[in-house]
Amino acid sequence: MTDYVAAIDQGTTSTRCVVFSHEGRVVAIDQREHEQIFPRAGWVEHDPVEIWANTRTVVAGALAKGDLAPSDVVAVGITNQRETAVVWDRTTGEPVYNAIVWQDTRTDRIAADLGALGGGQERYRATTGLPLATYFSGPKVRWILDNVDGARARAEAGDLLFGTVDTWLLWNMTGGVDGGAHLTDPTNASRTLLMDLSTLDWDADIAAEMGIPLSMLPDIRPSAGEFGRVRERGALGGVPITGILGDQQAATFGQACLDPGEAKNTYGTGNFVLLNTGTERVASENGLLTTVCYQLGDRPPVYALEGSIAVTGSLVQWVRDNLGMIGTAAEIEEHARSVEDNGGCYFVPAFSGLFAPYWRADARGAIVGLTRFVTKGHLARAVLEATAYQTREVIEAMNADSGVPLTSLKVDGGMVVNDLLMGFQADILGVPVIRPVVAETTALGAAYAAGLAVGFWAGEADLRANWAKDEEWAPSMPEAERERLFRQWKKAVTRTFDWAGN
Ligand code: G3P
Repeated sequence: MTDYVAAIDQGTTSTRCVVFSHEGRVVAIDQREHEQIFPRAGWVEHDPVEIWANTRTVVAGALAKGDLAPSDVVAVGITNQRETAVVWDRTTGEPVYNAIVWQDTRTDRIAADLGALGGGQERYRATTGLPLATYFSGPKVRWILDNVDGARARAEAGDLLFGTVDTWLLWNMTGGVDGGAHLTDPTNASRTLLMDLSTLDWDADIAAEMGIPLSMLPDIRPSAGEFGRVRERGALGGVPITGILGDQQAATFGQACLDPGEAKNTYGTGNFVLLNTGTERVASENGLLTTVCYQLGDRPPVYALEGSIAVTGSLVQWVRDNLGMIGTAAEIEEHARSVEDNGGCYFVPAFSGLFAPYWRADARGAIVGLTRFVTKGHLARAVLEATAYQTREVIEAMNADSGVPLTSLKVDGGMVVNDLLMGFQADILGVPVIRPVVAETTALGAAYAAGLAVGFWAGEADLRANWAKDEEWAPSMPEAERERLFRQWKKAVTRTFDWAGN
């Protein structure tokens, strides 16, 4: 087969376009980073216009690198950083404000005020599967409508549109002001605090309570199905867009976690563990999210339990960019290897408060256990170990919620090239950690959704057949040591509480 499927992966730090073969192998790839805007402590923004420009650049770049014409591509899928909110004018196509990124904590007051109406953090949990937290899109939209001059009146007049990044890109790709498609899929919609998990439609009461006009919201369509065609002027002109998945759900799909009980962990800006729970919605009692995993055409939706960790890979970036302690992300491993252990030092990166399983907006980052013995090497180790401990916390919550302990963990994302981290992860979990051959699982998942919709792949069996193991790390740390380290970590976490706002 000479045809291909393309995926656009719009992540927190960069945008990439990846072209895949029928075997699920990468044929061509292009990538571009965008600016991270930090106007104040706790605020994180992106420029949606830059993201759209980068998208066009990487699509053209990937096609050029693969020497491909649009006619070689049978379908395109979109996957994206989730929760990040864009509000724009449907008549000019211009955003009314920067995108407010999922990591941004400015909505803590809005969330607290909504919770104070009754039910606290759990107010919308039964309907949406989510706690009321700064992470999700709805309160970010409310903030824009409350704080941008004239925005609320324009929204009420029907002039403004809201979208997560998938919707922003889709609308632009399909024509923008000239009739762009204003659509999303249930995996993205389930991250807004506005979607009812059982109907896969917007909950009008919650939207009203949050002060968000329903006219701003995109229609929700199955993750694999028709979303429109790329307008003729675009690099993929005329190609149908037939897949949309939030990036973590896409990685779950790309890892072929297609049966209940299968889980993956993606090591990106943050870490996100998703456990496929099949067509059953499992309510979490241990601080996890209930979310939509995917919906293929008119088949019933598949749900997942999710453990979201805000800061993992972005801690390495912070050490590089804000401290200048390393020149490249890869150097963190070299420093960490220069010592035997963490020297008693723990780094809890509560930069956006703490997400799962704590959901504490009041937490802020802390380095604890410092003595004069501690060196750069120990600190580097503490940085890497933080990712592994946080992962164990959400896996423990998942084991408790599902009642079935995980026996191995499939991993993907940028940090899985770090051998020290992967070995330590297996040690601290006490189960094997497994990396697939194709590490681009996020883009692959979006390509799979798009390709299934057009019959390029016949069904899930094709996706399973494409999955192959690259490397496996087995645990080797003695049990007593594993538990001692984890106990110390948990103690370190308590030191970050009750800090913001004091
Ligand atoms: O929920 C946020 C998540 O979708 C971001 O993923 O890979 O861009 O860090 P990533």
